[in-house]
Amino acid sequence: MTWREYHEFTRHSVESLRRIPHVLDWANMPDPFRHYEGVPVLDLPGDPPAPTTPALDVLYGVSDNTPVRDGPTFLSQLLFYSAAISASKRVSSTGERYALRVNPSSGNLHPTEFHFRAQGLKDWPDGLYHYRPSSHMAEQRALGDVALKVAGNSAPIVFILTSIAWREAWKYRDRAYRYCLLDVGHAWQSLALAARAIGCESFAMGHFPDDEVAQSCHLHEDEWPMLIIGLRGSSIPVREPDGCETVWYNGQANQLSKKTIMYPSIDGIHSATKLSNLACHSISSGSATGFGEMSLPTPASSRSAFGRIVRMRRSALDFQGGTQSMSLAQLSAILAVTARPLFADFAGGDYIQLYLYVHRVDGLPQGVYRYWPQNGGLERIESGDQRVAIAGLSLGQDLAGNACVAFSMIGDLNGATSAHGDRGYRYVHFEAGAVGHRLYLAAEAFGLGATGIGAFYDEEVQGYLKLAPAQGQVVYHFAIGYPVPDPRLGA
Ligand SMILES: Cc1cc2nc3c(=O)[nH]c(=O)nc-3n(C[C@H](O)[C@H](O)[C@H](O)COP(=O)(O)O)c2cc1C
Repeated sequence: MTWREYHEFTRHSVESLRRIPHVLDWANMPDPFRHYEGVPVLDLPGDPPAPTTPALDVLYGVSDNTPVRDGPTFLSQLLFYSAAISASKRVSSTGERYALRVNPSSGNLHPTEFHFRAQGLKDWPDGLYHYRPSSHMAEQRALGDVALKVAGNSAPIVFILTSIAWREAWKYRDRAYRYCLLDVGHAWQSLALAARAIGCESFAMGHFPDDEVAQSCHLHEDEWPMLIIGLRGSSIPVREPDGCETVWYNGQANQLSKKTIMYPSIDGIHSATKLSNLACHSISSGSATGFGEMSLPTPASSRSAFGRIVRMRRSALDFQGGTQSMSLAQLSAILAVTARPLFADFAGGDYIQLYLYVHRVDGLPQGVYRYWPQNGGLERIESGDQRVAIAGLSLGQDLAGNACVAFSMIGDLNGATSAHGDRGYRYVHFEAGAVGHRLYLAAEAFGLGATGIGAFYDEEVQGYLKLAPAQGQVVYHFAIGYPVPDPRLGA
């Protein structure tokens, strides 16, 4: 299966949804928490210091540099503000509560797992760890010097983000691989921004030999490595590496559900986008340039602290609709943060173009616009009320029409796959997830709400925007506005 076949096969259409109805098997829902049982589990200190730099500044690239004393506190802070549990919701029919995390996830199914290799971290043994968000602890899967089989991984902390596709496939079936990739993009930005907020920079590698990395981390077969992220910076409390022989504890991966249903299309696209050692040469990419004739005002500012914003971030259940609008200066700031550089071996291609459906933004007539990051301007594509149209295009989800502004992210799949082969399919979705994550945090910084939308009618969106496939294809939708209260939400 090629990326193109998979993408076409997993398009939503009215016909496809009617033809293949799906009833969720709740008794077989995969556990959203992976544990590697039988290994030493290390505590991460509770209540790590909250990063106080304004979230918007962090999004623009400002780094705080208040070093913490030791490795455990550093790791605790990093993970508490990127991947930990941050709230819960109550199921009204049963009264049961379920966890929500700092990083969002399609269907709250959380296919992404966070593993990390620590080397020379003060008061923390060198080794390979898996983060256990359910108790904010680290499972020690190996002790000593773990070689990751990728070039340039000498950073004191290297994260390996993996995906468990079955978690998403349980609900989204064949289309699940798309959501896994978008989720990885969110998790990457969540980690990269938290790292920046506590004084270090990160660099993500998408281009690595999959099987070798999976073997070097002794991953359970249902976990697929997706991104490798190295963290460096003077705020990381370091010491000399131990240089010890590796001792593997491995651990027994928990079974996520009674049975796993196989989706050949997911195995097919995953194989098509894999790289072998030989294919792993260094990569570079180019980007499209253009111009928006409507310039945007000076971006609005916000002083809300990063620590508070990321822990408060939630997906809106719906938006208030009505007449309340957001300001153009807020929109200007929200768009500006999406244009800040991404630090990754596949970045630079700027594969995502943002199309806006403006419903209620002060001083900006309703309509469809394209954002051009090069000059920070908007190009008007269509005038008039878009509320019914974008809700319809987003699989009839009202929230896209009740928002102040909604988005289609158009991915340059042709460009990415000509530069990187089928692997480029992953990179476009990683970038879309990363852009989405910035939208979430920037909206929250202005007291607005946001929701990522993975469900849309692919071809209808193309048609509505009058885009030929070669001009890009829709990969993600998004909405920002005034959220309605969510009665299910608790601390
Ligand atoms: C890739 C992606 C796709 C999503 N698609 C939808 C969607 O189509 N409709 C929706 O209401 N929410 C969608 N969401 C929001 C999730 O349901 C939400 O992130 C999840 O329930 C966890 O809640 P939280 O974001 O408040 O932590 C999506 C989120 C992500 C990351």
